Amino acid sequence: MNVITVKTKEEAAKKAVEIIEDVLNRGDLKSFGLATGGTMEPVYKELSKTDLDFSHVTAFNLDEYVGLTAEHPNSYAYYMKEKLFNQKVFENTYIPNGSAEDLKAECNRYEQLLSDHPLDLQLLGVGENGHIAFNEPGTPFTSNTHVTNLTQSTIDANSPYFENKDAVPTKALTMGISSILRARKIILLAFGEKKREALNQLFKGTVTEECPVTILQNHPDVTVITDLNDLS
Ligand code: GLP
Repeated sequence: MNVITVKTKEEAAKKAVEIIEDVLNRGDLKSFGLATGGTMEPVYKELSKTDLDFSHVTAFNLDEYVGLTAEHPNSYAYYMKEKLFNQKVFENTYIPNGSAEDLKAECNRYEQLLSDHPLDLQLLGVGENGHIAFNEPGTPFTSNTHVTNLTQSTIDANSPYFENKDAVPTKALTMGISSILRARKIILLAFGEKKREALNQLFKGTVTEECPVTILQNHPDVTVITDLNDLS
């Protein structure tokens, strides 16, 4: 695992963009896995400032809340338009459809798309409880795209983006851990004391489904960018 320590989120964003640019310029970025959350905002801001051309790149987002349409301001589809897709043209952009009538069929459709477009690079954040995408503690490492129940910890952590805690959806569609691990290269960003325990587990913990992020210890190409400099 490659660890880059930075002082600020803006510096982290610059480092992440350098890696993305490198993969893109080598002609190795056909399928790009994207993440949401506050952590990614500086990265998309920085990417939007560049003249990098994503018009031959297909984007796949990790997850989406169940019950929110793409027009809902708290949906990840809306977030992605606001933060990146309105600024950068992609060949195609895919996000699981959280308002699909048949959620199981939607998960299967998404997983098929992922197998048709193997991810070259995946951006990842991490939840305070060690979740990646919306794979909560206890999710099998073999999981593909699926419907998940959000834990109280995740609902609480994400509630500042909503009017109140009751407005946070309790279910989501998420790429599975197996879907994420198939990405050739992974960049994980994590900032602040709230992420310390999750990063501690990633660097020094046992690989266990009880802390999903620990599985990245077994991936051959992971770069962690963080402002926590006393961990690894
Ligand atoms: C959500 C997302 C994750 C993200 C996590 C951390 O739960 N599903 O993909 O990594 O939040 O969010 P933040 O970056 O806001 O701390």
